[in-house]
Amino acid sequence: MRIDIITCLPKLLESPFSHSILKRAQDKGLVEVVVHDLREYTLNKQRSVDDYAFGGGAGMVMMIEPIDLCIKKLKADRDYDEVIYMTPDGALLDQKMANQLSLIGNIIILCGHYKGVDERVRQHLITKEVSIGDYVLSGGELGAAVLADSIIRLIPGVLSDETSALTDSFQDNLLSPPVYTRPANYQGLEVPEVLTSGHEKKINDWRYEQSVERTKERRPGLLD
Ligand code: 6GU
Repeated sequence: MRIDIITCLPKLLESPFSHSILKRAQDKGLVEVVVHDLREYTLNKQRSVDDYAFGGGAGMVMMIEPIDLCIKKLKADRDYDEVIYMTPDGALLDQKMANQLSLIGNIIILCGHYKGVDERVRQHLITKEVSIGDYVLSGGELGAAVLADSIIRLIPGVLSDETSALTDSFQDNLLSPPVYTRPANYQGLEVPEVLTSGHEKKINDWRYEQSVERTKERRPGLLD
């Protein structure tokens, strides 16, 4: 899988893909993440990627031309299954969407900024619009990093213990159970006895019960 991210702030996306699981996934050749600086696709002298909104009003609008040129160049080299625009009015990212996107081939992610992109980009170049939650961010970059992370960790072979993505919170619409590590007694704070019993069936039953309890208490909507 290849993920191409188009942004006018490429530096913002350097760190998220340079560490830990996301770095290892790329080192193993399981995914390729390529960040593109939109400014390199401008044809004007000022190298501007935005302009005033027709009709007036505050806020600049990202122009269609550099975005179109960048997407065209990418598409000339390979096929893409989705061209995603990160925007607060997109479809809410959830585990189901991450699962679906982890199964497809190549993805382009466009990060919005300012007052958004020219509507013609959304109508003609974008196949899917995604939001990471009901709040407003300064731009789509952090959203793109969140979306890419949620997808990449699901690609087979990325997580060392292949089952561990399956036991994530949300994967079966249940939150994860509590976990503990040594010491078993920290200044009188004890670990639930069942976890140190060595009794695998009892441990699994306890974890499942805790998951259901936690979900009922914190996110009852997931159980519907
Ligand atoms: Cl993807 N972008 C922006 N700017 N704000 C957001 C968002 C994305 N998702 C939630 N809020």
